[in-house]
Amino acid sequence: MNILITGGAGYIGSQLLRALAEDTQVDRVRILDNMQDEKFQSLMNLPGGHHYDLVLGDVRNEDDVRRAVGDDTDTVIHLAALTNATLSFDRRDDTELTNYVGTQNVVRAVQQAPHVTRLIYASTTSVYGPTSGTVNEESPCNPASPYGEFKLKGERDTLALAKLTDGRVKPTALRFATVYGNSPGLRVHTVVNIFAFRAAVGIPLEVFGSGEQKRPFIHVNDVARAVAFCLQEPRTEGESFNVVGENASVNDILALIEPRFPRMQVRHTNKEILNQISYQVDSSKLAALGFAPEQTLRDGIEEFAQLYGAFTRTPLGVA
Ligand SMILES: NC(=O)c1ccc[n+]([C@@H]2O[C@H](COP(=O)([O-])OP(=O)(O)OC[C@H]3O[C@@H](n4cnc5c(N)ncnc54)[C@H](O)[C@@H]3O)[C@@H](O)[C@H]2O)c1
Repeated sequence: MNILITGGAGYIGSQLLRALAEDTQVDRVRILDNMQDEKFQSLMNLPGGHHYDLVLGDVRNEDDVRRAVGDDTDTVIHLAALTNATLSFDRRDDTELTNYVGTQNVVRAVQQAPHVTRLIYASTTSVYGPTSGTVNEESPCNPASPYGEFKLKGERDTLALAKLTDGRVKPTALRFATVYGNSPGLRVHTVVNIFAFRAAVGIPLEVFGSGEQKRPFIHVNDVARAVAFCLQEPRTEGESFNVVGENASVNDILALIEPRFPRMQVRHTNKEILNQISYQVDSSKLAALGFAPEQTLRDGIEEFAQLYGAFTRTPLGVA
């Protein structure tokens, strides 16, 4: 496989680069990233075994995408996006340009490159929006944020490629739950990661409402494993799959953090924000094909407790 990963320097991409190093069928991995977040450490100490390229470019620019696909890529994994759902309300146009127009550029470049046969698209469980009960891939999608809205549009365009190319391109859309856990390109906007940081250093965690709202979560290592799994599993072609480790409430997460982070403080607020949305996501469709997550929220929080060990070994000393 000659693989192109857009957004390969990000939180998930940096872990995926490591997971793919274990795949002996991979010859070359090319990364297309504009390095806007300056995650240079994502590209350091990459395991050997195959060849790496970086195209410093932008998915909003069709020529950059075409250049990155080149004349030998057979597999494209499209991760590049603006990924902060809360900020997407204020940055609707930017979100559309990167997440939707950028995806259209990837779709067009893949359609026009006869050597590309596989496309994995990073979607999100945010496509479902507010729901009651548990949703699966058949459930209606009513995204609550511009982030979710444009991710869903991108997913539809990506899956349409199968027909547009008479079956040459096999697309898969993976709806990742909220990701947690450490990676070389760690991002801390997401709930578990920001809670672990704040709890470690003694900054109050902001909990919205009762804390009983449930959300789906997945460890970053399992996200990378799920992508690698789909590359090997033809039954994932042409469809969307939820990628979820477990559904948990904010209070469940606090209960896991508290015993390991002696500086943890909690502040309750009733601000109307996106994190109040409660929903649970079923992941049995991917499980039925043989994919099983390996890590739990407990594992991820324990990992952060150790990484922030200088802070978590003692209670808050100074006011
Ligand atoms: N992390 C999560 O909780 C989560 C959950 C569901 C879905 N996803 C999806 O997974 C994908 C990867 O997420 P992540 O958490 O690694 O995000 P990230 O923000 O850490 O990484 C995104 C990467 O894309 C790059 N990028 C951004 N705009 C670009 C552009 N215009 N051109 C080229 N590169 C650009 C950034 O430099 C960064 O390296 C995204 O599509 C995201 O929507 C993430």
